[in-house]
Amino acid sequence: MTTRYRVEYALKGLLAVPFVLLSQPTAVFDEDKPTVRHMATEAHNRYAQIMGDVEALINDHIGHQNSSKIAPASKLKLLVPTVGIFFTPLLLKDAFVWQDQRRYISSRRFVAPSFNDIRLILNTAQVMSLVKGGPLELVTFDGDVTLYDDGQSLTDDNPAIPRILELMRNGTRIGIVTAAGYTEPARYYGRLHGLLDAIAASDLPDHCKRNLVVMGGESSFLFQCQPASEHRLEHVPQKKWLLKEMQSWTEADVTELLDIAETALRNCVDSMKLKAQVLRKERAVGIIPAQGSKLSREQLEETVLVCQKILEMSPVGKRLPFCAFNGGNDVFIDIGDKSWGVLVCQRYFGGIEGSKSLHVGDQFLSVGANDFKARLACTTAWIANPAETCALLDEIRELNKIEYGRAEGQK
Ligand code: IMP
Ligand code: MG
Repeated sequence: MTTRYRVEYALKGLLAVPFVLLSQPTAVFDEDKPTVRHMATEAHNRYAQIMGDVEALINDHIGHQNSSKIAPASKLKLLVPTVGIFFTPLLLKDAFVWQDQRRYISSRRFVAPSFNDIRLILNTAQVMSLVKGGPLELVTFDGDVTLYDDGQSLTDDNPAIPRILELMRNGTRIGIVTAAGYTEPARYYGRLHGLLDAIAASDLPDHCKRNLVVMGGESSFLFQCQPASEHRLEHVPQKKWLLKEMQSWTEADVTELLDIAETALRNCVDSMKLKAQVLRKERAVGIIPAQGSKLSREQLEETVLVCQKILEMSPVGKRLPFCAFNGGNDVFIDIGDKSWGVLVCQRYFGGIEGSKSLHVGDQFLSVGANDFKARLACTTAWIANPAETCALLDEIRELNKIEYGRAEGQK
């Protein structure tokens, strides 16, 4: 679903027009309350109508998508030629109403509907659709910035823990799909111990406790929760999870790609005089800043773009999937990407479909971001910090209650 980002920008543009025409900034001087109330109602109706229209465009596109094996000839495709696949409809109108009740978007007189407003409306639209479509079978989470602050660990006071336990209690499988690439359970335990200990200590039935996996290095190392193990995780041998499509990723190609990436990184360090060192790992190569120094956004982005371009143009980069991304204060090039990581989790848990699977992450810009690729495998929610992840999980719970209550009432 490489599309959502473009839809996000297009929606911001569509809502700017009624904002310009309807907002009443002068009412701030005379505090004309009826005018302000009237403005809010009018703006609400107009925004909701636009959301409903875009929802219909997406539904029409999904209709074409389902009936055609080749490129769907929908109106949305004409408007946005690069549009990708939608795993589910997006309940945009209902989601707008929901978020407007919480963010009072229509009541604003000076600040137009923002990118963040749209991002949160789309997240709500996505989870509304998932909840309505039946049980959510798999939720995968990114690590840094999504579950804990950048570079930190998931400690036992993390508010996401009870929320993840509740998902597990309802039968949802959990994957932590992170770029952090370690070969040892101990390292992941170090980063995730709060959650792993809480699962072990919980009253979940033993088979449910096994319903959490950690996919590290984007799509390279798989571990499954095993409360009895020393580090609460056991390594899952590759032969138990490696996808058919991944069998052509040869060791020779991995080495060749990482060699090219390493040379490109070293050239960046030299040419920009970066105070950073190159770190080569089994399935990744990166630069990390020297102790106590920070790399600027420009340095990080330039490095990502240089490496990405060089690798894209190399023959091995055309054969082997890779992911070059800006990690906030480091740059890594990993073998594979999160679309493969999510696919592995889906198949490891018995073949969960993309339309029943949600990936929550913070990196969804199309260049230099690693959660973006997950859109090829499942539905996604784009959060900006760990508190938003908790808010999203609360929303899922609230929506489940409404949906479940409705189903009970109909019996
Ligand atoms: P994520 O947000 O959970 O995907 O984690 C990304 C961060 O993991 C990066 O910014 C790095 O600081 C860290 N990291 C540690 N090992 C690796 C690796 O092998 N590849 C990529 N990132 C790594
Ligand atoms: Mg992250």
